[in-house]
Amino acid sequence: MRIFIIGYMLSGKSTIGKKIANKLSYDFIDTDKLIENTYHYTVNDIFEKFSEDVFRQMEKKMLENIINKDNIVIATGGGLPCFNDNMDTIKQNGKSIYLKMTSKEIISRLINSKHPRPLLKSLSDTEKEEFIEKNIKEREVFYNKADIIIDGISCKVDDIISQINI
Ligand code: S3P
Repeated sequence: MRIFIIGYMLSGKSTIGKKIANKLSYDFIDTDKLIENTYHYTVNDIFEKFSEDVFRQMEKKMLENIINKDNIVIATGGGLPCFNDNMDTIKQNGKSIYLKMTSKEIISRLINSKHPRPLLKSLSDTEKEEFIEKNIKEREVFYNKADIIIDGISCKVDDIISQINI
């Protein structure tokens, strides 16, 4: 069994993913961390020194490697399901859970976040809000293909596990 946690930046994918993995005694992988450990660059540096396109190729490669592993919970980067047919790969190789949050909730979390997000860092506060609202709408076409769609704010680990039916 492979469980993919997908959703927008700051929706809590890694936090929930680790809790689910603990409960099920599964391994846990965060695709951003896997990329950083594999390529020895931070995500931020990959965007700056190379390009977003290079980062998306790395994400695709990591996903292809992960689907050989079993009993694992995978928190993906926010954009991973939305590029290169990755959502189809996810659907064919495991259960997917979309942690759904509104743009307002994401924006309020962004204020307290110390972790730099390359897609947002050069934008003013107003531009960030506009970008997030538009980008979530575009990405939901992919996120909404998930097997389970769950409220990212109120979700409970036990509910998610019972919905996955393990
Ligand atoms: C991205 C989300 C980030 C990271 C990269 C790009 C995106 O991951 O993969 O900065 O395109 O939404 P988080 O969702 O963990 O912030």
